[in-house]
Amino acid sequence: MITSLWHLKDKGLVQRSVTLLNIKLIRFRCFFWSCSFASLYFKTVKHLEPFRLSLEKLKVVSTRLRKDMIRGLGKHTHHRAAVKMLPTFVRATPDGTEKGDFLALDLGGTNFRVLHVRVMEEEQKMVKMDSQLCAIPQEIMLGTGEQLFDHIAACLSEFLDSQNLKGQTLPMGFTFSFPCEQKEIDKSILIRWTKGFNCSGVEGEDVVKLLKEAIHRRGDYDISSVAMVNDTVGTMMSCGYRDQTCEIGMIIGTGTNACYMEEMKNVKRVEGEDGQMCINTEWGGFGDDGSLEDILTEFDKVVDRTSINPGVHTFEKMISGMYLGEIVRLVLMKLTEKKLLFKGEVSEALRTKETFETKFISMIEDGLENAKKILTELGLTWDLVDARVVRLVCETISSRSARLCAAALATIVDRIRVNRGLPHLKTTVGVDGTVYKKHPKMQPSMHFLTPDCKIKFLVSEDGSGKGAAMVTAVAQRLALQSRLLEESDGEEDEEEKVRS
Ligand code: GLC
Repeated sequence: MITSLWHLKDKGLVQRSVTLLNIKLIRFRCFFWSCSFASLYFKTVKHLEPFRLSLEKLKVVSTRLRKDMIRGLGKHTHHRAAVKMLPTFVRATPDGTEKGDFLALDLGGTNFRVLHVRVMEEEQKMVKMDSQLCAIPQEIMLGTGEQLFDHIAACLSEFLDSQNLKGQTLPMGFTFSFPCEQKEIDKSILIRWTKGFNCSGVEGEDVVKLLKEAIHRRGDYDISSVAMVNDTVGTMMSCGYRDQTCEIGMIIGTGTNACYMEEMKNVKRVEGEDGQMCINTEWGGFGDDGSLEDILTEFDKVVDRTSINPGVHTFEKMISGMYLGEIVRLVLMKLTEKKLLFKGEVSEALRTKETFETKFISMIEDGLENAKKILTELGLTWDLVDARVVRLVCETISSRSARLCAAALATIVDRIRVNRGLPHLKTTVGVDGTVYKKHPKMQPSMHFLTPDCKIKFLVSEDGSGKGAAMVTAVAQRLALQSRLLEESDGEEDEEEKVRS
């Protein structure tokens, strides 16, 4: 048909006809393309339905978490609670008068960091003087506890050497981002490993003791006091130095968790009724008793079954960076098997566990060009419809993660409001974690879940590192204050004697 048109004498007419034909072809293609996208879209949506959580469902999830939090705080219910609600012995947030030089250790992901932090009272700021990063190889993450702590002690030794700090004994904050039963600020028993760590001989042991033993084994330096901190607490404390209304810390990174300031009278496992204490909720464990069975999808179950810690941290596995990419990969595999993607052809890369990285999700949501590049790198033969379907999958999985986090955070914020008997609460949440920082969707979906609360989010800058220094600084300030009080009590006694 196109060649016959070229026989026409009138060139203008030919050109006009070709243009017209092109437009028709484009329209037809668009129509065909929209039809095929629409049909694939609806079939895909059906498979993604179990990931969509209505507002009603999120409220149900929030109510369940509220009950689990109470169970976790209770003296007699704690031992079988899925949400552990661990007392941290951090009794105050910063008041801006903290100061001094500190060392901070940070272990929680695939890297270990040592930092030298200076807290400056006059300028109300924390300055990272220097820091060093040491990778934790997989064989150490899965080796013995002794190997892990020797590695940490060696890294610390190198840093102290490089900073000429070996002669000094600076107070140290240790951010250890795993669930620990804290007995004191410097005694912390690991309950269980999470996030890909599984070193033998550490669960049930005091982590501070293991660190000190490793340092003694070396014998080339010593440390003074150590304050143990969860990364959520570090985040809350570092943000709390900038904004003193910050009383919640939340992490959405490799793992997910939150801490908040709870009234002491509700912390039944710790003596004393007055004041507040920061509670590390370990909300990642929500659902470990089966309470989230109705919202778990077949994909969540595979992720759990094939993880190194099946049955542990169910909620975390639906939300955090360590698992989101794998959920997407499993969904893509299923859609391909159903011939809804890539003409039914799976690539070797897509078939391999953990090849779809979590960072691909926000990249793909950011633009179809990224999607095309990533799909090509994964060895897939794709068309535009495939790219759009993949984007839809990514959006669905990240939305669920954001909505679940929002529901959990709403539960905490509302608990603080009720604790204080307030009709409305204005509060600040310190946040950290790559998933939160890189994903635009993580923040806004909060309001509809907490109509009575106004929440401000403060993104933490290096909360895990600087926060540990801040916890140590606050602990020092409080120790100093109580020493001053005791001393002045003594003086009063003396004064009494003098008077009488
Ligand atoms: C895991 C850990 C928890 C930590 C969180 C974020 O859930 O158990 O302690 O806070 O990851 O790093």
